[in-house]
Amino acid sequence: MTRKNTNKFVKKSEKYWLIFEEKITEKRRNTNPYITKVENDPDIWLDEEKIFSQSWTWKDYFENNNEIILEIWTWLWNFFSDEVSKNLDKNFLWVEIKYKRLFSSAEKCRKKLSINKKNKNNFLLLKTKWENIAKFLGDSEISKTYIFFPDPWWKKDRQKKHRIFQEKFIKDLYEKTKKGWKLIFKTDHREYFDTTLELFKKIWLWREVLKSYDYETDNIDYDKTKKTEFETIFNEKKVAYVEFQKD
Ligand SMILES: C[S@@+](CC[C@H](N)C(=O)[O-])C[C@H]1O[C@@H](n2cnc3c(N)ncnc32)[C@H](O)[C@@H]1O
Repeated sequence: MTRKNTNKFVKKSEKYWLIFEEKITEKRRNTNPYITKVENDPDIWLDEEKIFSQSWTWKDYFENNNEIILEIWTWLWNFFSDEVSKNLDKNFLWVEIKYKRLFSSAEKCRKKLSINKKNKNNFLLLKTKWENIAKFLGDSEISKTYIFFPDPWWKKDRQKKHRIFQEKFIKDLYEKTKKGWKLIFKTDHREYFDTTLELFKKIWLWREVLKSYDYETDNIDYDKTKKTEFETIFNEKKVAYVEFQKD
């Protein structure tokens, strides 16, 4: 029996089984000017076949052996663009699905980098979902991953399956991370934080190396000025912070 393809934006791929490919109507293109901007932006990739084929060889894309840092679930752009422009000895991959957010982020990075410009930009934005991590990265290809304020999907039990921290994702990310390197997670949702820590304990792969239920007040070794947009705009609650390491 073959599974029916119900998503009209999904096409069959010989190598990757299914690839997301939006059909953009003229009407949609006219109402969202960022679609064309993203399509023409050299620092944003949106062809999933191309994105997945680069797995295992991201260092060839960046043309160096620098560590690769990943940010998933990005939203706005300040945190990431700061990291990109202040760490020219590192490469950055960034996963986001919305056109405006992708384009504005690329612009912000280029603006900050222009002060310090090298031949090739040290970042690339990928228009794909975090669910594809096993397809767009090779084993031990990345060093550090930031996951800040992912949606906690807490209102109904049945929504929890959408949470980013699930057994498969945690195991996939472990495989894709280099030995001795880290995953950093921040959230203002206490139940989500605790459930996630429990899950990590159960899976028994990552070692918890730093944890705080209120990282701004606690004396922990993290630069507290590095706030993301979510934190600066919405946050009034205590922010929980955890670092996991792959030993
Ligand atoms: C709550 S915001 C993230 C906040 C941001 N990290 C911060 O701290 O300022 C969630 C972002 O994730 C993106 N997103 C939602 N689902 C996604 C998925 N499956 N894969 C990648 N990004 C996704 C949304 O477009 C949105 O920009």
